Amino acid sequence: MILEKQIKSSDRVKNHGEVLTARREVETMLDLVKNESERIDSRFLEPACGDGNFLVAILERKLKTVTTRYKSKKIDFEVNLLSALSSIYGIDLLEDNVEIAINRMFEIAFTCYKDALKVKPDEEFQQVMKFILTKNILQGDSLNGIDKITFTQWTLIGYQFKREEYSFSQINQEAEILNTPLFASLSNEKGEDVFIPQPIKEYPLTYYKNIGGQE
Ligand SMILES: C[S@@+](CC[C@H](N)C(=O)[O-])C[C@H]1O[C@@H](n2cnc3c(N)ncnc32)[C@H](O)[C@@H]1O
Repeated sequence: MILEKQIKSSDRVKNHGEVLTARREVETMLDLVKNESERIDSRFLEPACGDGNFLVAILERKLKTVTTRYKSKKIDFEVNLLSALSSIYGIDLLEDNVEIAINRMFEIAFTCYKDALKVKPDEEFQQVMKFILTKNILQGDSLNGIDKITFTQWTLIGYQFKREEYSFSQINQEAEILNTPLFASLSNEKGEDVFIPQPIKEYPLTYYKNIGGQE
């Protein structure tokens, strides 16, 4: 039996409430949203992600789907692996947790690629994976520092990605904004008010292998 380390130090528990969730509980909770957790492009945000226990489990589920569907065609496998990776977001206050979470996710994606395609991902593809991870898994304060957090939305169109940046504080203010006259007139097909955040930066459509070279 493997004993998981849920507490790193009593100081970290006291100062940051850091008690990590065990794998069994993670899987049980993800089973509550089973379909979404296995869908390649469903978006998840963990606002206090620790060193990534939920993030890696979601990635593994998504990558199982990618492997089953696309392992026979390299280009489709690659682009869908990136779609899975780019739809998972995390924030943690502690820099070391963020670094560990990124490394764990990279290792899982790397191993999945090697197992499915029987070859290691080339340097260029590894750079793309790392680039996406550093844009999505962020050090920050998700309670009091959301004005400093920028999220990247990645939208796969064929073999290209559309990259748009959004301010977390704008997304988070949705409820407040819905009460203003400007946005109250926007509604969905059920007549309910909807809020459509505006990107603070947009990038041109980029071939998936060229993403790693962007700023
Ligand atoms: C209870 S742990 C849970 C970690 C992870 N979600 C898990 O289940 O394994 C809480 C985490 O939240 C982080 N944290 C505490 N306050 C935070 C804040 N204001 N913004 C972002 N992360 C925070 C801590 O550093 C810690 O890693």
